Amino acid sequence: MNESPEKPSPVDMVCAEDLVLGYGANPILKDVNFCIHHGEIVTILGGSGCGKSTLLKGLIGLLPPSRGRILIGGKDVSSPGHADDLAAARRNIGVLFQSGALIGSLTLAENVALPIEEFSGLPGDLIADIVRMKLDMVKLSGFADYLPSELSGGMKKRAGLARAIALDPEVLFCDEPSAGLDPVTSAEMDELLLELNHSLGITMIVVTHELASIETISHRCIMLDRSARGIIAIGTPQELKSGSEDPRVHAFFHREALPNS
Ligand SMILES: Nc1ncnc2c1ncn2[C@@H]1O[C@H](COP(=O)(O)OP(=O)(O)OP(=O)(O)O)[C@@H](O)[C@H]1O
Ligand SMILES: [Mg+2]
Repeated sequence: MNESPEKPSPVDMVCAEDLVLGYGANPILKDVNFCIHHGEIVTILGGSGCGKSTLLKGLIGLLPPSRGRILIGGKDVSSPGHADDLAAARRNIGVLFQSGALIGSLTLAENVALPIEEFSGLPGDLIADIVRMKLDMVKLSGFADYLPSELSGGMKKRAGLARAIALDPEVLFCDEPSAGLDPVTSAEMDELLLELNHSLGITMIVVTHELASIETISHRCIMLDRSARGIIAIGTPQELKSGSEDPRVHAFFHREALPNS
């Protein structure tokens, strides 16, 4: 879908404008345009290899776009000339990586404390209070002294989430938060994301291809397609499931094989 760029408004938290992302000379995503509103949960979906993680890497500043702009909280974080804006925006975003990315030799409390120690300059006892509060928010109070290797997959994801929200970010990016989890644990993760969105008003951009999660947590979805090298649909899950005439969107939401695929 080649939409013309939406004009950023004060309620927009994250905007992509005419974005092109890729590796070397090979563009993976082209003409990417969208705005995510304050407090929204938007899922990024599509088949394997369509560029979901690539888009996420672009949005969090790990992969510089070869064209276009990314605005977070109205500030351009994508141009080399805006290093200050990027640094400020980085402090305002949390990221839950697919692997959880916890440091194996540190306890949960130490893992969650790391970003607070690095960025806040707060005294140790206050940091310990904040860490307790964050672990409580993700239902891991009582596990502060555990090492990541002593936890189940779902608990590791929740610990990664506690670290991602350690600095009270306004925007949270999650890459496949329920990948590798059983259906019940995956549903618990969805509930937790919804709870954090309701109680803290965090804007969330969640990469997932799990239909149950998509239908449970999304206010809107952005669907990518590998051969289109970009966005093929944006809308609520209901709109995409029952209102799309695009066979690729229909097939995804109804778990059908595409003809000739
Ligand atoms: N570091 C890289 N260097 C070169 N190509 C890459 C790199 N990372 C990803 N790609 C390619 O970019 C394309 C999109 O990959 P990406 O990981 O963004 O897809 P995805 O939608 O997240 O897939 P999955 O659902 O399997 O996680 C793929 O063709 C992949 O091979
Ligand atoms: Mg991926």
